[in-house]
Amino acid sequence: MRYWLAIPAAGLGQRLGAALPKQYLQVAGRSLLEWALAPFVGDPRCEGIVVALAADDRWWPQVRERLSRPLVEATGGAERSDSVRRALEALAARTEGDPWVLVHDAARPCVRLEEVDALLEAAARHEGGALLALPLVDTLKRQEDDPSGAAAIVARTEPRAGLWRALTPQAFRLRPLLAALQAAAAQGRAPTDEAQAIEWAGLGRPRLVPGAATNVKVTTPADLALVGLLLAQPGALPGASSIPAARR
Ligand code: CTP
Ligand code: MG
Repeated sequence: MRYWLAIPAAGLGQRLGAALPKQYLQVAGRSLLEWALAPFVGDPRCEGIVVALAADDRWWPQVRERLSRPLVEATGGAERSDSVRRALEALAARTEGDPWVLVHDAARPCVRLEEVDALLEAAARHEGGALLALPLVDTLKRQEDDPSGAAAIVARTEPRAGLWRALTPQAFRLRPLLAALQAAAAQGRAPTDEAQAIEWAGLGRPRLVPGAATNVKVTTPADLALVGLLLAQPGALPGASSIPAARR
């Protein structure tokens, strides 16, 4: 199954608080963005890459020059969903038909080829799309409303059964996903993943595909340390040996 890769990479990384946007931080010899791209640039099913970038991005040209894939560039927006929408608008203007699109965060550098394979297999069977996700494993505590805000107190334990954490990549057909994101934007709503936009628009029943716990999103300094460990040791990231290195 052939697909286009869409990468939202227009964020500022404010919660990480580094001197540059987190997707350009170097970890184990490459930027997080290059790690995030790695399984796709070596995948013959990937027809091309569309990337959403911040208007003042100074770092992308160095990454771009090492990529041999067809590339479409778009300027990102205020929210992640705006960046994905703009990337897909740029792709839709340049592409015939209704290709599959895999949307993948630049901040997820540890995705495995096996996860991509599982996602594509599910998408091939479900026109409504599919996403990588992980069943929750921790016990869930609801915090009590504390007027003083001084301390977090347990109100109760929430049932965990049937709850998943949504990861990326997420696979949808270009035109319905773009229509769903445009509808959300027109309503002033910002879905936090592609599946939510599809759910809101009633345009499909996305399938949950079990991903790997190593598919970490870098949000905080602790996440950065974790992915540094995973990426520095090939054996620590199951299946990483099958991921071709990004062209340097
Ligand atoms: N993203 C984007 N456009 C935005 C916001 C986010 O393209 N307006 C991208 C980020 O670059 C990242 C992905 O969406 O690859 C996930 O977002 P997140 O982890 O929230 O990254 P940031 O927004 O950069 O981080 P923060 O929220 O801490 O500022
Ligand atoms: Mg953000």
